[in-house]
Amino acid sequence: MDCFEINGGPRLRGTVNISGSKNAALPILAATILCEGETVLHRVPDLADVRQMTHLLEKLGLSVERTGPGTLRIRVEDEMNCHAEYKEVSKMRASVCVMGPLLAKRKQAQVAMPGGCSIGDRPVDLHIQGMTALGADFELTNGDMLLKAKKLKGAEIFLGGAFGSTVTGTANVMMAAVLADGRTIIESAACEPEIVDLSEFLNKCGANIKGYGTPRITIEGTGSLTGCEHTILPDRIEAGTFAIAAAITNGDLSLKCARLEHMLAVVDRLRKIGVIIERAEDGVAVSSARRLEPIDITTQPYPGFPTDLQAQVMALLCLADGNSVLCEKVFPDRFLHVAELNRMGARLRKEGPTVIVQGVKRLVGAPVMASDLRASAGLVLAGLVARGRTVVRRAYHIDRGYERIEEKLSAVGADVRRVDEEL
Ligand code: UD1
Repeated sequence: MDCFEINGGPRLRGTVNISGSKNAALPILAATILCEGETVLHRVPDLADVRQMTHLLEKLGLSVERTGPGTLRIRVEDEMNCHAEYKEVSKMRASVCVMGPLLAKRKQAQVAMPGGCSIGDRPVDLHIQGMTALGADFELTNGDMLLKAKKLKGAEIFLGGAFGSTVTGTANVMMAAVLADGRTIIESAACEPEIVDLSEFLNKCGANIKGYGTPRITIEGTGSLTGCEHTILPDRIEAGTFAIAAAITNGDLSLKCARLEHMLAVVDRLRKIGVIIERAEDGVAVSSARRLEPIDITTQPYPGFPTDLQAQVMALLCLADGNSVLCEKVFPDRFLHVAELNRMGARLRKEGPTVIVQGVKRLVGAPVMASDLRASAGLVLAGLVARGRTVVRRAYHIDRGYERIEEKLSAVGADVRRVDEEL
């Protein structure tokens, strides 16, 4: 099993190409189930999660061909299979995004109920609520969610839950509603840029979706969708991770293709602690030249500070000049990295969904265990600045969501390499 070995110290300098967004690519890949003809997607990141989604699509009767770096050609060949099995869904929760397209296009979706995961319970009740509001019959059978509908009917659907809107739930309901009879209104819809990218993709295919990017999305159902050519938007979470990498190493990075307008909560917090972050010609420029100030951060649905950058910013605040408070409002149990950071000399105290971060002068390298995708990224960032050697075990978590992270970091000066854990 691979791990990352990091010798902390070097300041990162240079340019990092930001890849296509994982969280936009996954639902857009699922949406191709809806399309007649061929779809060509560009800037699709080469990630374990994307390979997992294309594998699932192939099982569902689609042909997926990688025709160049970042380009996939996709076509529906056979519509018989409507079953996303547990062995697929348990590897990647976002597999649940095939539910809406299967139900709308093939009139039936059998999707294994995802279990909990290392960041919490992660229910799918809002997805099911949306599908049944559109007229689907639902039953739970042998651990699978079985949804059937001869014809979905537009409806008014409220998708807010105890922790705010749901991103993949909004994607799923939209993908079901595009082929429904009549108008669907989703209230408390997720406003994430990835939902905007999915909506723009669906509209190019012939859907009629309005209001995306706001909490009220209106969808006029249409008879059929036809595949199109689309370029996936740049990954704001990868960009935020590299911005924090620049800040934590007192470095200077240009994040090529990054979109500042998708990162305003991150930009605001980083500027307030002393990081210089500006729009550049083709992306975002980030640098830092001094010890950073502490700050309080609360994660929230977009446009708030993303939960997917909570672990990374925690690593940064470990070294701030004073005490910070990090409050997790999206996944209140998403703190498995806390104990690992403490092994590196951090002073973190967890109180319910909040972590009090007492700034220390330095972190020290240690063997640590990655527990989920973004927690692992936080540990890698801590390793970049810790004195001595850090080994982040279970690199496969990072490979789910970061394209060749060790190559990108090495190219801007980090001392990081991928090694086989057995060695
Ligand atoms: C997506 C992202 C993930 C990100 C998360 C929050 C993808 C593929 N993944 O995950 O990287 O961390 O948004 O920004 O885009 N909830 C319910 N009932 C539901 C669905 C969700 O209560 O039916 C709760 C969740 O437990 C969580 C909150 O709503 O507390 C937000 O979750 P959600 O937005 O659905 O996360 P995902 O779409 O799974």
